Amino acid sequence: MTPRIRNAAYPGGALLDDEETEAVARVMRSRSLFRYYGPTEPTEVEQYEKQWAEHVGVRYALAVNSGTNALLCAVVAAGVQPGDEVIIPAFAWISVPNAVLQAGAIPVVADVDESLTLDVDSVRRALSPKTGAVLAVHMRGGSCALAELMTLCDDAGISLIEDACQAAGTTYRGRHVGSFGRVAAFSTQYAKIVCTGEGGAVVTDDRPSHLAALDVHDPANGLRRGEAPSAYPGLNFRSTELQAAIGRVQLARLPDLVERTREHARRIYDLVEALPGLTSRRRHDPEGENGLAVVVFARTPAEATDVWRALSEAGVAAVRLYQEETVDLHVAKWWRPLDVALEQAGRPRPVLDRSLELLARGVQIDVHPLFEAKDVDAICAALRAAAPLRASAAA
Ligand SMILES: Cc1ncc(COP(=O)(O)O)c(C=O)c1O
Repeated sequence: MTPRIRNAAYPGGALLDDEETEAVARVMRSRSLFRYYGPTEPTEVEQYEKQWAEHVGVRYALAVNSGTNALLCAVVAAGVQPGDEVIIPAFAWISVPNAVLQAGAIPVVADVDESLTLDVDSVRRALSPKTGAVLAVHMRGGSCALAELMTLCDDAGISLIEDACQAAGTTYRGRHVGSFGRVAAFSTQYAKIVCTGEGGAVVTDDRPSHLAALDVHDPANGLRRGEAPSAYPGLNFRSTELQAAIGRVQLARLPDLVERTREHARRIYDLVEALPGLTSRRRHDPEGENGLAVVVFARTPAEATDVWRALSEAGVAAVRLYQEETVDLHVAKWWRPLDVALEQAGRPRPVLDRSLELLARGVQIDVHPLFEAKDVDAICAALRAAAPLRASAAA
């Protein structure tokens, strides 16, 4: 019989309840929807920012209206100048190259390794005198090789920027991701575990970077701070009080939810270790992952397809990481704005063979915070059942 497993697609959206409704109602009753003034003193965004800073373990947080705009703020705030190169991974989300391009810089694509994050040797090879920053993306809730990347950036005298949009709750060696780079970005879009529909946060320990991010997100921010108008052509990425009110409830829930997803993911990874023909993604800090995704590699793309099909037929929310014929904006091959920019700059398109070969063998299983033990049992049973398929395919 097909096991019934909770749909894992929207970890944040699935957990919106009366608390968020009451928080929104509170702001509506106050009629103060704007963060900087209103009929009553607005405090939601300010408190939400304090909560983010405290959670990540940094001095400053700025709430913005999306993860994409948090990334643009982070790139500019990290000191990236127009014409600089910024090293990014071949597997991320299209907002990553786009934020770099919007900052007037040139994305240089490096390979990912079995961790689905930047391959440090590939980053080293991509360094040039024009490199202004490395933008490391903590994909699918797993941390990058932060120690190595920090050393590399320090040695090269460039900034490390963290994209933690998929990694709320993830830690590395006991500290939250987002606290390692000069600046980091989070997303609270609908599919994220901290969910405000749309939204994001820019976090940093560095005051000049925080001030720069304020100016990118709000053209009047210099004046609001009692300073001269900013020279930066800032846009408007401000968060509303309504988003922040939802976010405060959501962020407070995060530690409990991650405790559950981590345990679920651990059980599934333990099983994968025992299954021939499948390997777990490389994890730079297995205990620190937020556990929202389990990623396994098959030996060939065809075997990955078999595994994915068997899981899907058993009701498991699973996806392949890359299929040659399918448009997927997580994969550099499909980043058209980057192609156009490279062509205009007379630069070659990146060679992605290594990353694509790896991604084509990858299968991701989504883990939902509301899974019960029986849901994880069903996923494990489905994974075990996928093994004979692989064996016969290889025979
Ligand atoms: C790795 C990564 N970076 C950036 C973003 C952009 O965030 P948003 O959708 O909030 O703009 C996302 C969103 O999915 C993401 O996964």
